Amino acid sequence: MTHTVPTEIMKEIEGLVKELNYNAYLYYVLDSPVMADADYDKSYRRLRDLEEHYHYILPDSPTQRVGAPALEKFAKVKHEEPMLSLDNAFSPDELREFDKRNRKLLSPDDVLEYTVEPKYDGLAMELIYIDGVLTSASTRGDGYEGEDVTRNIRTIKAIPLKIENSTVPARVDIRGEVYMQIADFEALNLQRAKDGEPPFANPRNAAAGSIRQLDPSITASRRLLLACYGLGFAKGLSLTSHAELINWLKQARFPVPAAFVMAKDIEEVISAVTNIEIGRQSFPFETDGAVVKVNAFALQQKLGMKTREPRWATAYKFKAHQAATLIRDIQSSVGRTGVITPFAVFEPVRIGGVTVSRSTLHNWDEIQRKDIRIGDTVLVERAGDVIPHVIAVLTEKRTGAEQVVPLPVVCPACGAGVVREEGEVAVRCISLHCPAQVQEKIIHFSSRGGMDIEGLGEKNVELFYSRGLIKHFEDIYRLKKEDLLELPRFAEKSADNLIAAIGKSKQAALSRFLFSIGILHVGEYAAKVLARNFRKLEDLYNISPEEIITIKQMGDKIAGSVSAFFSDPKNIDLLNSMVKLGIIITNPDYETEKTAGPLDGMTFVITGSMPKPRKEIETLIEKHGGHAASAVSKSTSYLLTGDDPGSKLDKAKQLGVKVISYEELLKLIEDKDKQPKLF
Ligand code: IVH
Repeated sequence: MTHTVPTEIMKEIEGLVKELNYNAYLYYVLDSPVMADADYDKSYRRLRDLEEHYHYILPDSPTQRVGAPALEKFAKVKHEEPMLSLDNAFSPDELREFDKRNRKLLSPDDVLEYTVEPKYDGLAMELIYIDGVLTSASTRGDGYEGEDVTRNIRTIKAIPLKIENSTVPARVDIRGEVYMQIADFEALNLQRAKDGEPPFANPRNAAAGSIRQLDPSITASRRLLLACYGLGFAKGLSLTSHAELINWLKQARFPVPAAFVMAKDIEEVISAVTNIEIGRQSFPFETDGAVVKVNAFALQQKLGMKTREPRWATAYKFKAHQAATLIRDIQSSVGRTGVITPFAVFEPVRIGGVTVSRSTLHNWDEIQRKDIRIGDTVLVERAGDVIPHVIAVLTEKRTGAEQVVPLPVVCPACGAGVVREEGEVAVRCISLHCPAQVQEKIIHFSSRGGMDIEGLGEKNVELFYSRGLIKHFEDIYRLKKEDLLELPRFAEKSADNLIAAIGKSKQAALSRFLFSIGILHVGEYAAKVLARNFRKLEDLYNISPEEIITIKQMGDKIAGSVSAFFSDPKNIDLLNSMVKLGIIITNPDYETEKTAGPLDGMTFVITGSMPKPRKEIETLIEKHGGHAASAVSKSTSYLLTGDDPGSKLDKAKQLGVKVISYEELLKLIEDKDKQPKLF
């Protein structure tokens, strides 16, 4: 049944939308709320009820920010004007150089002024407003085409759904940075640690991870902000400079960069960037530089662009944040391949607004080289990421009570012996049953880059492992809801969610699966290469290192470890039992069409006994673009001969067909194949 909407109800709805939007603007953009939370909620509920009852919903109603269902994947959006990156300047002199270059390209009577604003460390976005209404929001992508994240962007309350209070152009593409404040980032990481989820490395990753979510309700739960700093395509907007743009954006209620200033010449620019560099300690957001732009659009146009960057702008990069602190302890952790990595535990210290309490020391060579001891005061640097680095020991602060940390002789997790291989800096635990390694393997398996089992983070893996529920990653697929309900961390809903996430991960691409199972040296890229070359998992069983080496990009080290992995019957049992537990592996990466291989267009015939099974050699030839035939003819390119060749050799000689050995075949593939090897 449809309702006709009484005029006074329409008026009320319009009034509520206006009131709520204005208050959201005061709260999220100007950071100065006037309406009490309870009043806001009351008006919001009234609006929602009226909308539901009368089916009268305005496009910019705050109720329209949330509630869109999750997507399968993002659609692509083309940028009308490419989204560029920025050149860098690392010193005042490099800024002077930038200015000199500009002056050279312009004429003496051009009035060259600059603007200066902080460089926000987040995710670049393009927002398209048609007739004043937000219709599309996309990420930068490769600069020409990004991902459609409109539904997620709508959940950010600092972003107007409709342009208010200003000239409304027919179309305007607004560029800006979505970012997260440091305090919100720290709170989010704290929550994630409680939920057993891995922390984000920095506010930028947190912002990017929150936007690139297929489920908008996750984006809505993160406190994201926006700073608008640029224009893409526009129609019906007559602005002549960057400063005018910033003003127009402000009027239209868009958030603009804090500390935006004009500069008459490059010396003023230098003092402005210095002010921002000093002031950034107290900014609530992360910034690693200031962006300097030529103010007049006409001059921007005259200066034009290089391949990826405009000539009219540059980013002045700040020095990394540093602070001194005390090393309370040096501990170590064991990774999934058994590598033991030392880390320093600090007296917590704030560096560039972020609290830092530990840092990796990489390996014992590094500790010895820098002579880092427990009790030392060290200089710590944080560049962008939260993960800091020890730059130097402040030896003048030594008291003599500092302790040197010896190389470990046993694994800190399981007490087994350790080895340090020739030419390697890493110290490794030798036990195959080391609980730290096993747990790390399972964490890697279920991580986002791996099988992506949401909710099976570090904390839950530790819990399941300690309760004996998971001894290896195949056991993940044996978990039952009843098992989870017996554990302290789980209730009905969380147990359902985890079981559903495990079920969802059962469908996997071969490349992802190969990466997840943690074969030594097989990273995401090597896993992709393997998947391109082997149709199915079983094709890798008992494979020889030689066969892998013939693949482009594969070197001795990977070949050895892949072959060793697939020749171990225990591993094959594990893989088979995972398939039995319902894992379905597809291979969208397999290259059926051979792209120009080194043996392209060549026909081979094999005779005599070969060092490898014939089938294997034929596959090898085909994998590299060649064709294996059974009889020698004029069109045969090479006869591959082993010991005791048959009559085919005579025939080949008769026809003048070249004769080569197996080794020469391998060389042929290798020589023509100049692709760099991974290892
Ligand atoms: S202007 C053509 N202004 O930095 C220049 N960019 O390294 C377009 N960024 O992709 C960018 N704060 O994501 C500009 N105030 C600011 C910025 C800013 C952050 C980002 C932006 C851009 C990247 C370039």
